[in-house]
Amino acid sequence: MCGIVGYNGNLDAKEILLKGLEKLEYRGYDSAGIAIRNKEGVTVFKEKGRIKDLRNVVDGEIKGNIGIGHTRWATHGVPNKINAHPHQSATKRFTIVHNGVIENYHLLKKQYLNNIPMQSETDTEVIVQLVEQFSKEGLSTIEAFRKTLSLLHGSYAIALLDEEDGDTIYVAKNKSPLLVGVGDGCNVVASDAMAMLQVTNQFIEIHDGEVVLVQKEKIEISTLDGQKIERKPYTVELDASDIEKGTYPHYMLKEMDEQPGVVRKIIQEYSNEAGELSIDEAIFAALRGADRIYIIAAGTSYHAGLVGKEYFEKLAGIPVEVHISSEIGYNMPLLSEKPLFIFISQSGETADSRQVLVKVKELGHPALTITNVAGSTLSREADYTLLLHAGPEIAVASTKAYVAQLAVLAIVAYVAGEGSDVDLKKELAIVANAIQTMVDSKDEMQKIALEYLNNVRNAFFIGRNMDYYVSLEGALKLKEISYIQAEGFAGGELKHGTIALIEEETPVFALVTQEAVALNIRGNVKEVVARGANACVISMEGLNEEDDRFVIPKVHTLLTPLVSVVPLQLISYYAALERGCDVDKPRNLAKSVTVE
Ligand code: AGP
Repeated sequence: MCGIVGYNGNLDAKEILLKGLEKLEYRGYDSAGIAIRNKEGVTVFKEKGRIKDLRNVVDGEIKGNIGIGHTRWATHGVPNKINAHPHQSATKRFTIVHNGVIENYHLLKKQYLNNIPMQSETDTEVIVQLVEQFSKEGLSTIEAFRKTLSLLHGSYAIALLDEEDGDTIYVAKNKSPLLVGVGDGCNVVASDAMAMLQVTNQFIEIHDGEVVLVQKEKIEISTLDGQKIERKPYTVELDASDIEKGTYPHYMLKEMDEQPGVVRKIIQEYSNEAGELSIDEAIFAALRGADRIYIIAAGTSYHAGLVGKEYFEKLAGIPVEVHISSEIGYNMPLLSEKPLFIFISQSGETADSRQVLVKVKELGHPALTITNVAGSTLSREADYTLLLHAGPEIAVASTKAYVAQLAVLAIVAYVAGEGSDVDLKKELAIVANAIQTMVDSKDEMQKIALEYLNNVRNAFFIGRNMDYYVSLEGALKLKEISYIQAEGFAGGELKHGTIALIEEETPVFALVTQEAVALNIRGNVKEVVARGANACVISMEGLNEEDDRFVIPKVHTLLTPLVSVVPLQLISYYAALERGCDVDKPRNLAKSVTVE
């Protein structure tokens, strides 16, 4: 997790780096730092906390045309000023920022750096000390850098400055995301194009095991053993305004509001000239050729995968297993004869999912990635990609990407199923309108949050079938942004243990959108109410009863998750606001989880 930036050009680097880091804060926000090189040498500024805290310690007068920066999500060493990046070598000749985890840093320290006193607790410092060590032994900087990289096990995106070389940022990547940007009178480095859209929209992908020299006038890419690589830049079709909050107080609120538009955009993107829903023929063939689909994902994307299973089984008749990526990677189940792996990932960078993809490719099985980020690692490394078209999602809590994942999964399953009698295009249009009704009901959601979640310790979400999957997502949303302990349960499971936790006034949110199990879930509501729970029933039109707290518009049974999740997102948002939480950047979390 962590984000890195680098600038080498005609302009003053400081403000460009700080602005870039602000755009990368979603990747980590417990400490940050920048290093600026000018005639006097390299000066480092770092601070615990956010970029705004870093701004307070950066010398406003400092000027320099080359610099690197970092925003951190701590893995090795507590979040403090000392462990914040950039890190410097013993003589301060070399300065580094790093995203990733060096698994063998202890070993390297023991083997090569026994006499070097370390300043920080980080794995990163080992890299910069090694470069200095090898350069002292007579290697040029690029040779010392390459030798160091060849010793590292783990993941890294690195930008390195050499005080004795005023022209170059030394860059390398393995498993962690990294792009190089081609600007007018400058070249840049960033974990994510968003950080450098202020300077350019022309970016070059860097592949694992490559080393790049980023100079003002040129970019030189080579392999670890020195073979030159030519690669053309591509245009990033993002508008800088897509990544601004505008008049919204939080990205999360903006992103929830965008959900009806996202569904409409997906319908459009996945319609062919005849106006029918369609997907790429090669992907269609891969789906039809599979005897079983394995969906791999984490967090919210895993919850989307659970719904996706229903879509593939009901609309396409293909059996599906859904796996948490951090579990399946180290414990592959017995696979079917012709498996197709589908990776669902908003960011396309989740390390847990990526390690599974690497194994799947080693086994020679086909893989499809469904992601929001074109050119992301999971997209590049899979055989096929389908995009979510949700626009950048900045808030750590995923909202519009989840809805987009469900819409795309429904379309893919529907197209793969050919003969389905659902008019999915029409049904999705109805869903878009229903979501609009939901996001227009913010006042009511705020009231519900106050009524049910004021000063509570914990909360439960229950549902059956599709509603159960949405309960899991509702609970995740609430816990990650409000820190209320929240759990999602299959309604029928409560009585097998969890009902012991229900006390006077315990909030229980119950979803009732599935006709086949509506009576059963209502029975579960009665059970918890009899034990004192404060039950908030959210039902769907047609299945509603008098005392239900909120009724969502009627949509197709299979598509209810796209709508019923929205009140849960909004209730979580208002509960978090009420508690004074940092909604967009909850504690301990990061948007892109690029460590296993
Ligand atoms: C959702 O709100 C989360 N912050 C998190 O669970 C996320 O969905 C998970 O880390 C997976 O990310 P991905 O979709 O980018 O792979």
